[in-house]
Amino acid sequence: MADFSELQEKLSGIREQVRAGLQELKDSRSVYEYRKNVMDGKTGLVGALMRETGKLPKEDRAEYGKLVNRLKDWVSEQFDTMDEKLKKAEMELRYAAEDIDVTLPAKKHAAGYLHPVTKVTNEIIDIFSAMGFEIYEGTEIEKDYYNFTALNTPQDHPARDMQDTFYLTDEFLLRTQTSAGQIHVMEKKKPPIKILSPGKVFRSDDDATHSPMFTQMEGLVVDKGITLGDLQGMLDVLVEKMFGEGTRTRLRPSYFPFTEPSVEVDVSCFECQGKGCRLCKGTGWIEVLGAGVVNNKVLEGCGIDTELYSGFAFGIGLERIAMLKYGFNNIKLLFESDLRVLDQISD
Ligand code: PHE
Repeated sequence: MADFSELQEKLSGIREQVRAGLQELKDSRSVYEYRKNVMDGKTGLVGALMRETGKLPKEDRAEYGKLVNRLKDWVSEQFDTMDEKLKKAEMELRYAAEDIDVTLPAKKHAAGYLHPVTKVTNEIIDIFSAMGFEIYEGTEIEKDYYNFTALNTPQDHPARDMQDTFYLTDEFLLRTQTSAGQIHVMEKKKPPIKILSPGKVFRSDDDATHSPMFTQMEGLVVDKGITLGDLQGMLDVLVEKMFGEGTRTRLRPSYFPFTEPSVEVDVSCFECQGKGCRLCKGTGWIEVLGAGVVNNKVLEGCGIDTELYSGFAFGIGLERIAMLKYGFNNIKLLFESDLRVLDQISD
């Protein structure tokens, strides 16, 4: 029969053994395994201790049971503490491995953007759509008739020299101006007319500020009692939205065969507010478009009663507006499709 004090000694030996064993453990998984081992009811260092009870004299059994239970509680607590400690360390390691440096600059994703000329086109369309204008898109190949003759520029008219034309045949050409669209619209539609017509136009012209292909935006209004004042009113709205509040317009006499009177429209320089700078060449004004009151001959040619109706028209070169707005002076930059350049031009 086992001696009680011997058993007591054995228990404290076990306590030390478990304490030492726990120190060896490196991760929570092995804490789990070790605990299972130690606490096993049949073979465990601690778990099997109760089996010894029968070997003791009756009077010692209750005391022994208490001691074993106390040891079990202690061991269990030790395991819990070690488990917690190792789990915490493991979490910290995991957090460190997954750590994200939120101050790192993000990877740049190149996003697409609209071409400066498209942007200017859209802006003008937005402004005039709000005033009730509709869009008419003509064709790039036109009949001489629509591009010139119907616009009061017959075959022998000197104004034809104002635009060097690419002829395809005697009858067909690449349109030199979106004004050709005015005639198509007036042939099909009775007043009131309020159209905006964007599109590519072509002229045999090529230097830093001229390109053989460029983009225009035509505006045409025909209604009762339309005057040059209406034109200036609408252009005032346009230039303030395009170039900033306080930008004013100025009309200068000019000549186009299809408008009478004809004007060049200047805007007050948005760079120097009219004081005079490099952009406006010291004049305080920048020329932005051609316009005028639609020539009666043109209206009559389209069957419109000039006793009742009058109109105005304007034509804007969109590359020029883009160059002014984004501050560069070579039109070719817009057509070279060099993204390093377009990136800088776009805002
Ligand atoms: N079509 C003219 C040009 O290209 C501009 C313009 C349009 C002038 C409408 C008057 C009226 O130069």
